[in-house]
Amino acid sequence: MAGNLFVKNARVVTPIGSQAIKGKKMGDLQEIPNTTIAIREGKIIYIGDNIGCPEIPDANNIDAKGKVVLPGFVDSHTHLIFGGFRPDEFEWRLKGDTYMSIMERGGGIQSTVNATKKASEDQLMKKAQWFLDRMGEMGVTTVEVKSGYGLDFDTELKMLKAIARLKEEESSVIDIVPTFLGAHAVPPEYKGRTSEFVDLLIEMMPQFKDLAKFCDVFCEKNVFEIEDSRRLLKAAEENGFKLKLHADEIVTLGGGELSAELNAVSADHLLHVSHDGILKMAEAGVVATLLPLTAFALKEPYAPARKFIDQGCAVALATDLNPGSCFSGSIPLTIALACIYMNMSIEETITALTLNGAAALDMAEEIGSIEVGKRGDLVILGSDNYRILPYYVGMNCVKATIFNGNIVSLNP
Ligand code: NIG
Ligand code: FE
Repeated sequence: MAGNLFVKNARVVTPIGSQAIKGKKMGDLQEIPNTTIAIREGKIIYIGDNIGCPEIPDANNIDAKGKVVLPGFVDSHTHLIFGGFRPDEFEWRLKGDTYMSIMERGGGIQSTVNATKKASEDQLMKKAQWFLDRMGEMGVTTVEVKSGYGLDFDTELKMLKAIARLKEEESSVIDIVPTFLGAHAVPPEYKGRTSEFVDLLIEMMPQFKDLAKFCDVFCEKNVFEIEDSRRLLKAAEENGFKLKLHADEIVTLGGGELSAELNAVSADHLLHVSHDGILKMAEAGVVATLLPLTAFALKEPYAPARKFIDQGCAVALATDLNPGSCFSGSIPLTIALACIYMNMSIEETITALTLNGAAALDMAEEIGSIEVGKRGDLVILGSDNYRILPYYVGMNCVKATIFNGNIVSLNP
């Protein structure tokens, strides 16, 4: 249910606009002290002084007490629905094993696929719900969730149905955007026959169209290389999906360039993107979604955020929460890593987690900033200074989360 709410005494800090903010403009935030925000039926209808505020019958009130109010965070890349866990692999990596060699031995994604096949739809949902609740506490109001631990029709369908039911059941606390990631790994029975597996995924697409907004692919050496990824994504586009790619995560393969060629909404990871890939993405307006928690957890170099921004690209930040490469959905740590290791300014990280995250989900007209007409999704911090965000390394400084005009989380 969409709520009616007044947020009084707010120090509003927000990017402005209804599309991705590119390049150095990502650092431009609007800051307005002593503000009232009025939300009617879930939509922001007024931002200004208290005297001019319109009346809304039956509206709730929250006093921000001069603290910072940001747009709700958008986590535009997660794999938060899955069976099992993989702590053993984490320990192997601590001892020197690599993510790809574990995957090539039949572990990694395939190990989660095996566990996901065994789990019921209800079990998958219950586990995912726990993560969604934690994300709400950290200020997330919109989250993208991928399938991709099925790799066969029935299990992909089970995952997408579980995501659809979560979207319905959680619709008063968080918005969920579903993505079909059938091309997450090549199952053992298709080893050496990747293009036949791509044929199978293309056959499935029409049946998943109503369950997913995006189609994504793990475009990587020895997984789905450029030609297979291109064929898959072109078919996805013909089936009405919007496009995303896991691109240039482990090696430089040309995923950045492919995302530009196909006019994908976003290309994600990009730790090893080429210079040409950056230029082409900037020119095509593809959002570069960077996932610093994954680089941190895999001990890989961070994605070149500064190069993207300096070349005029729009950068989004997301968590990549998943049971393998990055078992963390920490928004506070994402912010700290982006500022400390990727040299993004605090203002740029805020834009990357709000308006540009929204653009990475093709939702920048509806969410991602505090402006009249947008959905009433807000985060109230425990401080009157937004610059404390990265300073609280890995610690949550969100006081309250508001989704669609309802207070969904009030932290002590
Ligand atoms: O974004 N690299 C591909 N997919 C995920 C990891 C999934 C997993 O390891 O379970 C990623 O890193
Ligand atoms: Fe991912």
